[in-house]
Amino acid sequence: MPEKVLIGVAWPYANGPLHLGHIAGCYLPADIFARYHRMRGNQVLMVSGSDQHGTPITIRAEQEGTTPQEIVRKYHADFLASWQKLGISFDLYTSTGTDNHRDTVHDIFLTLLHKGYIYPHTTDQPFCPRDLRFLPDRYVNGTCPNCHFERARGDQCDRCGKTLNPQDLVDPRCRLCGATPQIRATEHLFFRLSAFQESLLQWVKEQRHWRPNVLNFTLNWLTEGLKDRPITRDIEWGIPVPIDSPDFLQKRIYVWFEAVIGYLSAAREWAHRQGQPDKWMEFWQDPACKAYYFIGKDNIPFHTIIWPAMLLGYGSLNLPYDVPANEFLSLEGNKFSTSENWAVWLPDYLSRYDPDPLRYYLAAIMPETADADFSWQGFFHRNNDELVGTYGNLVHRILTFTHRHFQGRLPQPEALQPQDQELLDKSSASLDGVGRSLASCSFRQALSSAMALAQAANRYVDAQAPWKSLTENRARTATTLWTTLYAISALKTALHPFLPFSSQRLHQMMGLPGDPAGAGWAIQAPTPGAPIPQPTPLFKKLDDSIVEEELARLSSQRSVAKT
Ligand code: MF3
Ligand code: ZN
Repeated sequence: MPEKVLIGVAWPYANGPLHLGHIAGCYLPADIFARYHRMRGNQVLMVSGSDQHGTPITIRAEQEGTTPQEIVRKYHADFLASWQKLGISFDLYTSTGTDNHRDTVHDIFLTLLHKGYIYPHTTDQPFCPRDLRFLPDRYVNGTCPNCHFERARGDQCDRCGKTLNPQDLVDPRCRLCGATPQIRATEHLFFRLSAFQESLLQWVKEQRHWRPNVLNFTLNWLTEGLKDRPITRDIEWGIPVPIDSPDFLQKRIYVWFEAVIGYLSAAREWAHRQGQPDKWMEFWQDPACKAYYFIGKDNIPFHTIIWPAMLLGYGSLNLPYDVPANEFLSLEGNKFSTSENWAVWLPDYLSRYDPDPLRYYLAAIMPETADADFSWQGFFHRNNDELVGTYGNLVHRILTFTHRHFQGRLPQPEALQPQDQELLDKSSASLDGVGRSLASCSFRQALSSAMALAQAANRYVDAQAPWKSLTENRARTATTLWTTLYAISALKTALHPFLPFSSQRLHQMMGLPGDPAGAGWAIQAPTPGAPIPQPTPLFKKLDDSIVEEELARLSSQRSVAKT
C-alpha cells in the first residue's frame, strides 16, 4: 500500500537571496526526503512558496527605494531559478500573493472568528510621535529582555531566538526615525491560543518520534503557558482583514498567521492545477497521510504550537506528524548574517560550482541535532576525498575498465565466489539501511551508510584486482566487474535523493533506460551484454586554490553591521 506524505517546507521571505544556511536548514532535507518517498512509490506532495508579506518585505522595499511588489517579484523569480538549478523538486512552489491563498486565509480566519477563537481586543501599541503612525513589530528595535542583544527586533531576537512583542524591548526605538515610541491604545484581533493549552499539551506529549530539541522546545513553551496573540498589524502590505468595519481598513492580517496557512492553500492550488480540485483532501483529511514540516529551529513554535492550534480550531484537517527542525549552520565559524553580508549566497555558489557537491557536503554536515559549520576547506575536502576519491573514482575506474576490455558492454558473470556474494549482500543491506535512516529523517546517517558501501566496494575491487585476472582468467574479471557494477547500481539508487544529477548521469552510463527515480528503491542488476556509452567522470576534482579564493571573496564582501 503506497503511503501518503505531505511535505511542507518553510516559506522563505521574498526579500533577499537565499544562502546556504537556508538550504541546509530545510530545503535540502525536504528534497532528499521527498525524493526518497517518491522512489518508494509513495504519494508525495511537497509544497512551499515565497512569503510575500509583512515588515521584512516593506523594510527591504524602503531600503532599496522600490515597492514591496517589485521586491517580491524579483526574489520569487530568483527562488524558482535556484530550485531548478539545485534540484529542489517541489510539486508546487507558489507564493502568498495568490488569490487562492487570500481566499483560504479568509476561510480559516472567518471560521475561527465564528467559533470564537478570534476576538477584538484593545491593546497598547507603539506609536511614533514623529512619523504619526503605529509601528508594527520590525519597525521597533531595542534591547532583548532575554539575552540583552542590543539590536533585537520587535518580533524576535536574532541572537537568542526568543519571539517578542515590541513592548518587550528594553529601550525601544522607531526604526524609521529613531524616536522613542509612545504607547497608544488601538483595536486589534487576537487569536485565542490559550484555549488550546490542554489539547496541545496532550497531543505534543504523544509525539515521541519528534527530535528531542523540537519536543523539548515545544514542551517548554507549553509549560510557560500559552497567551492569546494579536493577529492583525498596522501595515498596508498584506492580506486584508475580512471584516466589514472601518476600524480594520488600515490593518492587515499578521504575516505569520497567514503564511502557515500557505501549506493548505498550496495543496489546494496544486490540486486545482492537476484538474482534480478536491485532491488536496487526500493529503489533509485522510488520517493516514503523514504531514512533515521541514523548517529551521527559529520557526519551531509556529509549526508545533500556533499552526496546530489553528488547525484544531478550524477542525477536520491533519495535524503535523513530524517537524524535523534543523539547528543552525554557521559559516567559517561565524553566524550567517545578511546585514553583515557574511554568507555564501546560493545564486553565487550555483554560478561557480555544480549542485551535487553542495548537496553532498551540506547533507554530510547537516545540522540535525547540533549546529554545524560550513567551511570552504571542508567543502573542498569532502568533494575531493569522498565524492571524487571514494565514489567517483570507483565508478570511473570500473566503467572505463569495462568499456575498454569488454567492448563497451556490461560483462557476463560466472559462478559467484563468497566474496562476491558478500558484496551483493552488503549492497542490499546498505540500501535497506539507507532507506530506514531516510524514513526517520536521519540524513547524515543515511549518507554515511551509503558511503560505507562505496568504501566496501573499493576494498573489494582492490582485493580482487580484476586487471590482474584479465589475461589468465577473463571470466573471473567479468564476475568481479559485474559484482562491482551491482554495488554501483545500489549506490546510484541510495544516493539519488542526495545526488540527483549524478545519479541520472550514472544511470545513463550504465546503459539503463529512463531515470533512476523511476526504477524505484531497488537495485537494478546490471544486464550482461547491455551496451554502455564511453564513461566520463561523475565529479570534478577541485583545485585547492578555491579555498583561498572563496575565503578572500567572503572577507571582501563582508560589510560593517548596519543597525
Ligand atoms: N518567512 C518565514 C521565515 O523566513 C518562514 C515562514 S514559514 C511558514 O522565517 F510556513 F510559516 F510560512
Ligand atoms: Zn519614527
